Amino acid sequence: MIKFLSDFLWGAASSSYQVEGDNDLCDWWAWEKAAGKEQSGKACRHYELFEQDFDLVRGLGHNAHRLSIEWARIEPEEGRFSDKELRHYAAVLQALKSRGIEPVVTLHHFTNPLWFSRQGGWESPRAVAQFLRYCDVVIRALAGQVHYWITINEPTIYFSHSYFLGAWPPQGRSFFRALTVHDRLARAHIEAYSLIHRIYKDSGLSRPAVSIAQHISAVVPCRPDFRNKAAARLRDYWHNFEFMDIIARAKTLDFIGLNYYSRNLVDVSSWWPGNLLMETCSKGHHPLKKNSLGWDIYPEGIYQVLVKLKRYGLPVMITENGICTNDDSQRWEFLSAHLRQIGLAMEQGITVTGYLYWSLLDNFEWDKGFGPRFGLIDVDYRTFQRTVRPSAVKLAGVCKTGILE
Ligand code: FCB
Repeated sequence: MIKFLSDFLWGAASSSYQVEGDNDLCDWWAWEKAAGKEQSGKACRHYELFEQDFDLVRGLGHNAHRLSIEWARIEPEEGRFSDKELRHYAAVLQALKSRGIEPVVTLHHFTNPLWFSRQGGWESPRAVAQFLRYCDVVIRALAGQVHYWITINEPTIYFSHSYFLGAWPPQGRSFFRALTVHDRLARAHIEAYSLIHRIYKDSGLSRPAVSIAQHISAVVPCRPDFRNKAAARLRDYWHNFEFMDIIARAKTLDFIGLNYYSRNLVDVSSWWPGNLLMETCSKGHHPLKKNSLGWDIYPEGIYQVLVKLKRYGLPVMITENGICTNDDSQRWEFLSAHLRQIGLAMEQGITVTGYLYWSLLDNFEWDKGFGPRFGLIDVDYRTFQRTVRPSAVKLAGVCKTGILE
């Protein structure tokens, strides 16, 4: 049996673009069409249905919820800020608060306004100043309702997928472009951190808690030979900790937001940097069950990562962890196994303050479209009907009692 503390934050995570619908002023919206991808369209219509979704959240015993603000809604044209959309997000936060649910708010979750990307996006020398101007408006408008801020979601995934691997808009395939964006994102976080603290201080509000949500996978060498072990170390550093180290050195983390999903099984066939950084075992060694996108299910990994995070000496909030599957019994297996590993880490003295499952609703999974089903709640994309899954009810039992049998 594992007993979680009574102030533990229990909830689910989401992002605006993936659930709201009709975010037609974003770079992703234009790219989906141009690249011939499945289109996000109405997504889950959460923009209109948030009250009813938060009723479900409350029913499931959650006391926290992670969401993001859509920059393109707030600033549809450069320098023009929408009072209507600021009021919308204030109403969303109020809807959470009135149900006793603590918001965890992300300022950037992969998407950008179209005008921003047309000017060069994160490669532009103006990017950081533009992002900070948007942050300034949002923080001033919403500060009174928010304690937990996530400046940037998964910066390492964002700059690698969008500027190095060519998978996401603007489909860059250059190490140097990725490096430029890496530097801009680090600066954007560092300056946004100071900005948030300054605004709270000047407004006489109590100190907020600010972090990023960092995607960290468990890096495991397939065979323990020298090359695989060296590649694993290199990869662990570049994929997982390099960005964190920069912003931790700048003392701009109040806690660590951890997004954990899977294992990276390192098996490299040469010393070529591309292989060292990316090649994984293709021979089916050490097989594990997989989610519907083929990602290994490796609950021990969340424990291993939490132990590694100890070196920062900061509390950790699990800002994402979840499974896409068409078999909901697999979801509860996943959830309970990961919670057990988190419990184990807590027994070793690691402070974990909350667990936010990805995701509340089935939603638009970026370039993979609507196929993957991550939700605690099933969404019928024809009728937008929500159906609470049995795994969500089981998790609710843990949220309400703090006990995992
Ligand atoms: C994370 C993203 C989130 C979602 C999950 C499955 O990397 O932050 O938006 O797509 O993966």
